[in-house]
Amino acid sequence: MIKIIETPRDGMQGLQHMVASANKVAYINRLLQCGFHTVEVGSFVSPRVIPQMADTSEVLNTIDTSTTRSHIAVLVVNKKGGERAMQFKQIDRLFYPFSLSPTFLMKNMRTTLAEAEKTIDSLQNRCVGSGKKLIVFLSLAFGNPYGDLWNMDLVHRWVEKFIEKGLDIVPLAETIGDIGPKKIYKVCAQLVPAFPQVQFGLHTHALPNMGIAKVDAAYRAGVRRFDTVLGGIGGCPMTGKQMIANLDLLDLIKYCDEHGIDTGLEERQINKAKQQLSKIVFTSDLK
Ligand code: COA
Ligand code: ZN
Repeated sequence: MIKIIETPRDGMQGLQHMVASANKVAYINRLLQCGFHTVEVGSFVSPRVIPQMADTSEVLNTIDTSTTRSHIAVLVVNKKGGERAMQFKQIDRLFYPFSLSPTFLMKNMRTTLAEAEKTIDSLQNRCVGSGKKLIVFLSLAFGNPYGDLWNMDLVHRWVEKFIEKGLDIVPLAETIGDIGPKKIYKVCAQLVPAFPQVQFGLHTHALPNMGIAKVDAAYRAGVRRFDTVLGGIGGCPMTGKQMIANLDLLDLIKYCDEHGIDTGLEERQINKAKQQLSKIVFTSDLK
């Protein structure tokens, strides 16, 4: 069985038009019935930087989490976001998008490596014993398109640091969508056996029909945790590069069906969510 983390946050954050809060709530309520391991419902970030997520508190206060078996996650980028997340008892996962790349950290969160590490420490201090788990992403884990230093020693060193900080889940993010399956395989195949105590994940962006090869590469290397977005919509608007679609949940399901891998998802609910997508996106947003 694999763990699927569905992220309407990544799906919606970069859309050109504002999605009405009521439509977000209805859509997320549907996702919460699908059987995902985790649903990342929104983010506590600057509303000026990501206006689409400005209603995350309202969405959290309105969604129905009473019957879901999914964990509820939000993305936070600083202490302020962490404090806001602490106020919601329905949230049990905080995602922090750390990156190996100083250039991307600055673009995405106007922060340095040293400051980002301090933020991780303070978020982790806040989370330990609170019933909420901090999950720190390693963005640009597979290479660096901005010309910053990248090598496997650096990746290993950061994973070791995360372990020292008590973190045991590390999603490897390929934020730009420019990394091929071979590289994904190579990196994952080194990390998974080197750190058996860590659950690695794949957060990838891909052009239409390119996602399956990336999933296959990570799966063959031992990764069992995948971030997806139904319909493959969205992406990261902070890279300074063309926004590449998210890994489409439907591609991952297809891969799992073909390989006899249990997703734990309920097909009927997924189909209903698919129908609801038209209230979230315009045809032009779909790949
Ligand atoms: N929630 C709500 N508002 C926040 C916030 C948070 N977590 N963090 C900062 N803000 C607000 C501040 O209050 C301030 O508003 P004001 O000018 O009205 O007082 C404004 O945002 C700027 O805050 P500042 O601390 O100066 O941050 P900054 O301008 O250096 O930007 C970030 C830093 C991290 C807040 C911003 O870059 C950001 O939100 N990035 C998120 C990007 C993202 O979501 N990426 C997703 C892909 S992983
Ligand atoms: Zn992403």
